[in-house]
Amino acid sequence: KNAHGIDTDCLTLTRYVLAEQRKFPKASGDLTQLLSAMLTAIKAVSSAVRKAGIAQLFGIAGATNVQGEEVKKLDVIANEVFINMLKSSFTTCLLVSEENENVIEVEIERQGKYIVCFDPLDGSSNIDCLVSIGTIFAILRKDHEGPPTIKDALQSGRNIVAAGYALYGSATAVVLSTGDEVNSFMLDPAIGEFILTQRNIQIKPRGKIFSVNEGYAKFWDPAMKEYVENKKYPKSGKPYGARYIGSMVADVHRTLMYGGIFMYPATSESPKGKLRLLYECNPMAYIIEKAGGLASTGIMPILDIVPESIHQRAPIFLGSKEDVEDVIALYKKHQ
Ligand code: AHG
Ligand code: MN
Ligand code: MN
Ligand code: MN
Repeated sequence: KNAHGIDTDCLTLTRYVLAEQRKFPKASGDLTQLLSAMLTAIKAVSSAVRKAGIAQLFGIAGATNVQGEEVKKLDVIANEVFINMLKSSFTTCLLVSEENENVIEVEIERQGKYIVCFDPLDGSSNIDCLVSIGTIFAILRKDHEGPPTIKDALQSGRNIVAAGYALYGSATAVVLSTGDEVNSFMLDPAIGEFILTQRNIQIKPRGKIFSVNEGYAKFWDPAMKEYVENKKYPKSGKPYGARYIGSMVADVHRTLMYGGIFMYPATSESPKGKLRLLYECNPMAYIIEKAGGLASTGIMPILDIVPESIHQRAPIFLGSKEDVEDVIALYKKHQ
C-alpha cells in the first residue's frame, strides 16, 4: 500500500485469471472470458440481493420449478442474469441451471466450447430473512466436434475444468479453483473488483463442527444416527459444536474456513438426499478436494459419480478429511 493506504497494485480476480492463462501458451483466453462474464453476473446478483428488500424483490414469483419448489423472485432474476451473461460471453455452448427443466443450448452463432452447470441462487429459503445465500457453478469442456448434446453436461465431476461459488454474506466473496489451488476473493464495492484475500486455501484435517439438518433425524439411516450420536456423546474427547445455516454455500464456506463436516444425507423420505449433483454437490466437492478435504456419498467419492440426468440428487458428506473418513467407516460398518 502507498502512503495513503491505497493499494495501488491490488491483485484482482481478473488479473489472477489472466496470469493463470499465461501458464498455458496455447490457451485461447476463452476461460478467462467466461470467468469474467461470470463475475459480472455475480456482481449484478450481489447488487440485487442487497437491495431486494427495498426493490420489493422478496417473496415468491408465483411459480414452482422442476424441483417442485416455490420459485422466489430473486431465483428468477439471478437465473436470467447468469444465462444472459454466459451466453453473451461467446464461450459456452450448453447451460444447466437448477431453474430450467431442460438443458439450455446456446444459439450457434454465440457458441463456445464450455458447459456451465449452475445454481443461480442457493439457499433461496433464506432470502426473505436476510440470511446468507449464494451462487454455485461448475465448468466442463465439450471434448468433441459437432453440436453439443445433453451428454456433454453428464460428465463426471473428474472432468470439471473450474468450479466455485459466490457467497452474498456480510461481504460478497468468490471462492474459485481453476484446477490447482483454491483462492478466495472479496468484492471491493468501491472499485467493483474482486480482490484476492486468501491464496491456496487448505482445509484442516479434522474440525470440531458438524453441520446437518437434525429436523430429519427420524428419517436417518443407522450409520447417520450413530455418527451424530458419536459427535454429541463422544466416548472420549469433547462433543463437536453444531452449526447449520440452511444455505449450502454458507455451510460449505464455514466448513472450508473452520474445518469440520457438512452433511446432507439420504433419508427414508429422499433416498438420494436433496442436493443436486451437477450444480451443488460436484462444484463443492471439487473445491473441497482441491483444498485437501474429502467429499463422499458415504459409499463413493462424489466426483466419481457418472450422472444420468441433469437434476439428479446425491447424498453428500464433505469437509475435513478425517471427519469424512469417520462417516465412510460407519457406512462400511452398516452396509
Ligand atoms: P436452493 O435454494 O438452491 O434450492 O438450495 C437449497 C438447498 C441448500 O442450499 C441447503 O443446503 C439445503 O437446501 C437446505 O435444505 P433443508 O432446508 O432441507 O435443510
Ligand atoms: Mn431451489
Ligand atoms: Mn442450491
Ligand atoms: Mn437455487
